[in-house]
This record gives sequence, C-alpha cells and structure tokens, in this order.
Amino acid sequence: MSLDKELSEYTAKTHLSRALHDEALAVMPGGNSRTTTFFDPYPFYFQRGQGAHIWDADGNDRLDFNGNYTSLILGHAPPDVIKAVQQVVEAGLSFPGPTEHEIRLAEMLTRRVPSVEQIRFTNSGTEATLNAVRLARAFTGRPKLAKFEGAYHGTHDWVMVSVSPDPKAAGSRKRPKAVASSAGVPPAVLKHTVVLPWNDAEACEQIVEAEAANLAAVIVDPLLSNGGTIPPAEGFLERLRALTERHGIVLIFDEVISFRVAWGGAQERLGIRPDLTTFGKIVGGGLPVGAFGGRADIMGFYDPRKGGARISHGGTFNANPATMAAGVATLNALTPEAYARLDALADRLRGGVTRLLQATRRRGQVTGLGSLFTLHWTSEPLTDYRSSRPKDPEMPIRVFMGLLNEGILLTQRGLGACSCAMSEEDVDRFVNALARVLARG
Ligand SMILES: Cc1ncc(COP(=O)(O)O)c(C=O)c1O
Repeated sequence: MSLDKELSEYTAKTHLSRALHDEALAVMPGGNSRTTTFFDPYPFYFQRGQGAHIWDADGNDRLDFNGNYTSLILGHAPPDVIKAVQQVVEAGLSFPGPTEHEIRLAEMLTRRVPSVEQIRFTNSGTEATLNAVRLARAFTGRPKLAKFEGAYHGTHDWVMVSVSPDPKAAGSRKRPKAVASSAGVPPAVLKHTVVLPWNDAEACEQIVEAEAANLAAVIVDPLLSNGGTIPPAEGFLERLRALTERHGIVLIFDEVISFRVAWGGAQERLGIRPDLTTFGKIVGGGLPVGAFGGRADIMGFYDPRKGGARISHGGTFNANPATMAAGVATLNALTPEAYARLDALADRLRGGVTRLLQATRRRGQVTGLGSLFTLHWTSEPLTDYRSSRPKDPEMPIRVFMGLLNEGILLTQRGLGACSCAMSEEDVDRFVNALARVLARG
C-alpha cells in the first residue's frame, strides 16, 4: 500500500484526534510540545492506557510497543505503581526539600549498578546528561566532549550535535564532522564537540588520542539505542574504556534507554564500568525523571557541605516524591524473572521478524538486545549510524503508519520495546501485523 493510502485509512479512523489537533494548533506551534511525537498529518490523541494497550480519542485500541519511548517497562497503569503514587500524593504533591522516597530510590539504583556510588535526581534525561557533561568538565578542567555520530542524549545544546546528520554534510565515516542537529546550537558548541564513529575502535583511538588533552568526557549510549539499537562490536567498549582511562577522560554511559536491558543495565550485561551513568525513563516508573551518578570522588563536586558545592544543581521538582515512589515500585517489580521473561518475548519478536523478512525476501533487519528492538530497512551489515540509514527514506514512516492501521504502535524510527504486560500472543500479533503491512507494498 502506498503511504497515501495508509494515511487516508489513518485519517478516516481518527476524526476526534484531528479536531483536538486543530484546537491545539491555535495555541501551540504545530499543536504540540514534543517534536519527536509529531507526525504528519497529525498525531492521534491518547485517552487511556491499560497493560499493553492504549486507546485514542476515537476509541481505537492499539498494542503499545512504543511504551512512551521505552519508559513504560511494566506497561500502562500497573496497579502497584498507581497505588504507591496515590499514597504519596495524598500526603502532598511536592515539597521544598528532600523526602525519604528519594533515599530509597537512590539505594536501589546504587545497589543495582555498582559503578554508581552516588547519585542525584533530575526531571528528565536531558538534565541528567547536561549535568554529567558539566561535571566531567569541572572534574577534568578540560573543555571538549566526545559523542558518537547517530547518538541521541536529549535536547540541550552540548548533545544536539550529529544526532542524525546527512552523511553528505558530515565528513568522512572515519572522521565525522560535528554537525548541529538544531537551529540555535551555537558554533562554540560545535568547536567543543568531537564526533566519533560507532564500532570503529581504530578510528576512535586516533581521534581521541589527538584530542585527549582537551577532552573532558566521552558520552556513549552503550547500545546506540536511539541511533538504531546497534549493540557494540566485541571488544569495542572495552577499548573505549581502556582509552579513556589511559587519558583521564571521564567515560559517561547514557543508560536512559539501555538501563532496561538488565537488572544492572547495559553496563552489567556488557561488563564495563563507566565513571558516570545517566538514567531516565523506566527509573521514574512513568513519571518525569532523570538521574546521574557514578564515582564518589567525581560526584563529590555536588556536595554542598564544607564551603559549598562546586557545581550548583537546583530544580524545583528534582527528586519529587511521586516520581521517586513510582520508581521504587517499578524497580521492585523488575525481578530477575521479569528480565528473563522480557528477553524471551523480545527474542521471539526478533526471531519472528527475521523469519518474515527472509521468507518475503525483504530488504530489512531487526536489531536489539534484551527487551529493545529496532526495525531497519537496509540489508547492509549494520555497524553504525550511516549503515543503518534506510535505502528508501519513506519506508520507516510507511511501516509506522501501516502498523498504526493494524492496531500496533511503534516509534516512527522503528525503535520498540516489549513490556512486562505483554504476552507471546501480543508479540505474534506484532509479527503478523508487520507481515500484512509488508504484503501491502
Ligand atoms: C539515550 C537517551 N538519553 C537522553 C534522553 C533524554 O531524555 P528525556 O527525554 O527524558 O529528556 C533520551 C530520550 O529519549 C535518550 O534516549
């Protein structure tokens, strides 16, 4: 089916969402507050979520493999999390100081992730990476930050570089150029950003060796989650760890998404100990959250005792009790058995999609680890951001729209996640729906 046909089926099913979008247009640019969730001609409006399902304003029921961009690892409205939040908010919504809930979540995270000796909370993953980068600069006294081409770390200026650049404007594969990912990112940011090619250890070593004296940190999403969920090649992160250690460069693991792949996050699964780690999404149990933590000697820059903190970190709603309680209740439910079940569900999905693509001789692949997966529409070996770009640029949105019409919600770029609320039948429904979408065109 052509994209036009998929769109007309979508618009025919979503009249009330269109009416809401028209109202929104009068008061918000493009009618929304979240660039990534917009799609043409208008996004549908969410009304309710329960378990693995969401319902829109027109009453359409969809299976949710988006999970608020991988945040909702237990599915929608898990009763224990709702109960924990209800109990907390009845005692007051927020306070001008700490509550016990913050200690409990900090204890859980530091226990799960041994590299995180001390931790602080924010309200978003963006604030978490912002603070981790500032901290690395303060600790090392160096100005530059290295990041990987294709990696997303939130929306502050320091990481809005080379997120999804046009390769034609981004220099060579082995020596990528820093390209602004948004209007308004000043040239000073580009001057202080070093861009690295994912999974090319030799090229990374050459670039980092040349810049080492000025490099405060390398920030890395250990699964390149938002850049295609392309797990690291064997030995790649080990070499990056050794390289950064040799040069006194702070290694930041951005586990905002990848933390969901194991009890102790991707770092446990991959056996690497970073200096700092950033968190978000699942650790807030569905409420706004971020956190950053790591070596106690580095985190000490935030210690306000004895003459004051060297880095100020305010935030009216940092560590707010509702988020902290939702995080505790969520992590409590994430037992080793829950991770094993999530892995099995996503393995089943990846296996089903791979067999489908082979049987239909489609140009495509599915990648992922643990409960995460990403659909790709190329048959090139997937090693980095550039190799993951689809041969037909319209394909991801055609599949996204086609799946929506089949009652399945994914992300537009093909990233998805299984939740604890899903069953094997749900996963098989995904594969069968994808088969129908592909059969249409
Ligand atoms: C790896 C990664 N880091 C940081 C962020 C930013 O988190 P937030 O959207 O909570 O600001 C995201 C968001 O998707 C992310 O995927």
